[in-house]
Amino acid sequence: MTWREYHQATKHSVESLRRMRQVLDWGNMPDPFRYYEGVPVLDLPADPPVPEIPALDVLRGTSGTTPVGDGPALLSQLLFYSAAISASKRVPSTGYTYALRVNPSSGNLHPTEFHFLTRGLKGWPDGLYHYDPSRHMAEQRGRGDFELKLAGGSAPIVFVLTSIVLREAWKYGERAYRYCLHDIGHAWQALALCARAIGCRSSAEGSFLDDDVARICHLNSDEWPMLIVSLHGKSIPVHEADTGETIWVGGQANQLSKGTIAHPLIDSIHFATKLSSNGSSGSFAEPARTGSGEIKLPPPSSSTRSFGEVARMRRSALDFLGGKQSMSLAQLSAILAATAQPLSADFAGPHFIQLFLYAHRVDGLQPGIYRFLAERAELEQIRSGDQRVAAAGLSLGQDLAGNACVTFSMIGDLDRAARTYGDRGYRYVHFEAGAIGHRLYLAAEALGLGATGIGAFYDDEVHRHLNLLPNQGQVVYHFAIGYPVPDPRVSASNEPQDVTW
Ligand SMILES: Cc1cc2nc3c(=O)[nH]c(=O)nc-3n(C[C@H](O)[C@H](O)[C@H](O)COP(=O)(O)O)c2cc1C
Repeated sequence: MTWREYHQATKHSVESLRRMRQVLDWGNMPDPFRYYEGVPVLDLPADPPVPEIPALDVLRGTSGTTPVGDGPALLSQLLFYSAAISASKRVPSTGYTYALRVNPSSGNLHPTEFHFLTRGLKGWPDGLYHYDPSRHMAEQRGRGDFELKLAGGSAPIVFVLTSIVLREAWKYGERAYRYCLHDIGHAWQALALCARAIGCRSSAEGSFLDDDVARICHLNSDEWPMLIVSLHGKSIPVHEADTGETIWVGGQANQLSKGTIAHPLIDSIHFATKLSSNGSSGSFAEPARTGSGEIKLPPPSSSTRSFGEVARMRRSALDFLGGKQSMSLAQLSAILAATAQPLSADFAGPHFIQLFLYAHRVDGLQPGIYRFLAERAELEQIRSGDQRVAAAGLSLGQDLAGNACVTFSMIGDLDRAARTYGDRGYRYVHFEAGAIGHRLYLAAEALGLGATGIGAFYDDEVHRHLNLLPNQGQVVYHFAIGYPVPDPRVSASNEPQDVTW
């Protein structure tokens, strides 16, 4: 199977949804937390210092400084502001309380796991670890040098982000692979932006030999490596690396659900996008499509809300207020500027994603559809008129896409990605979409607005509505920003223990 066949086969249409109607097997809902039985568990100090730099500054590329004295404090800070539990949601119909995390996830199913390798970190033994967000602790799976070379250079901290696709497939079936890739993009930016907020540099690698990385990290067979993120920088407290031998502890991974359902399309797309030899991928990246627009965006709004506060307060809006309340063009300008910054990754040269906006309520912008020209900070109007019904309808009838002030279609140039990187490029386009989505979440939160990622849309209807020719890309993600309705189910939480899941 090629990326094209998988993408085509997992498109939503009225017909496909009718065919696919499935009943969720609640008794078999996968556990969103992975544990390893029989491994030492290392404390990450509670209440790490708040990264104080304004979130919008971090999104624009400015580095913060939050000097912490040692490795445990730095790791705690990094994970508390990128991957930890940050709120809980009580569902009255079931009485269950679910954990919500700093990084969002489609259906709150959290397929992404954070593993990390350390070398020479002050006060922290070299080794291979798995982060357990349910306790905000690190499970030590091995001590010593675990071939940090797997990510170019010798970074003192290397994260390996993995996907447990069965968690997502439990609800979303064969389309779930797309959502897992988006979630990786969100988790990557949660980590990379937090690293920047505390004065570290990060670089991501999507090109690696999948089976080698799975072997080095001793991953369970239900877990697939997706992205390697290395951290560097002077603010990382280091000493000489340990010279002792490498000791494997391992541990037994918990079983996440009683039974699993086969998803042959997911197995096939994963196989198609795997690398089994070091190819020459990425050597012929073509420039992205450009153009000129007639609407120059004004200088962006500012906000002093700290990165730490924004990262932990970020939530997905249940719905938006609709009505008359609009956002300003300067706010929209700040949000769009946050998406236009370069990404630090081996696949992130020219962007593969083009943003289309359905402007519902933006002061100074006629309702209509616009294309964002990132290099020029301009908008090009491609259709005029009220788009609220269309945006909601295209988003599988979800009202929030019409009640928002602005809704986005992210159009991915999947063909260009495939010409450049082969089938692996399919992953990269979705990582980029997730990364842009995460920047949208944080920018909206910093400006006092709310946001929601939308993975469900009628693919080909979107193409028709936007008049996109097949060679102009395909929709890969929707997103909505506006004034959120209060969500009585959610309460902020610093206590990982107070949740059922
Ligand atoms: C890739 C992705 C797709 C999503 N799709 C939808 C969607 O179609 N509709 C919706 O209401 N929320 C959607 N969400 C929001 C999730 O439901 C939300 O992230 C999750 O419930 C956790 O809540 P939190 O973001 O407040 O932590 C999506 C989130 C992500 C990351």
